Amino acid sequence: MALRMIWDDRYLTGVDRLDREHQALFEYYNRLIEACATSSEEAAAGVALLERYAETHFEHEEAVMVDSRYPYYLHHKMDHESFLVELHRLKSALSAGENVLDDLCRFLKNWLASHIAIRDAAIANHLHDLSVAAD
Ligand SMILES: [Fe+2]
Ligand SMILES: [Fe+2]
Repeated sequence: MALRMIWDDRYLTGVDRLDREHQALFEYYNRLIEACATSSEEAAAGVALLERYAETHFEHEEAVMVDSRYPYYLHHKMDHESFLVELHRLKSALSAGENVLDDLCRFLKNWLASHIAIRDAAIANHLHDLSVAAD
């Protein structure tokens, strides 16, 4: 069984809404790995929930980037899009009966951890610089 994701301060961006949503993504992931141990139907439902939540979160985060004129917005948005493409590919393979659950969990865990700690943290730094400049 894949390892749970443990939240820690390294993932904090300091933007409350984003932090709450990132914590929820960790929770969806942890529920998914429990579902994987139950049945493939439960696992498929868990993937669908995580995917839907990620889409909503990306919309919120992209709005924050646009509103704050984040200079790497397009690059960041492309990263979200390629995540969703890969997730969709793995989801389709799963529903076709392929044994991709381990790959799927590994992909999700690695992507979420590094994207949040590096890419999303860069948005938070940009917002912090803006607030310092406005003082
Ligand atoms: Fe992001
Ligand atoms: Fe994010």
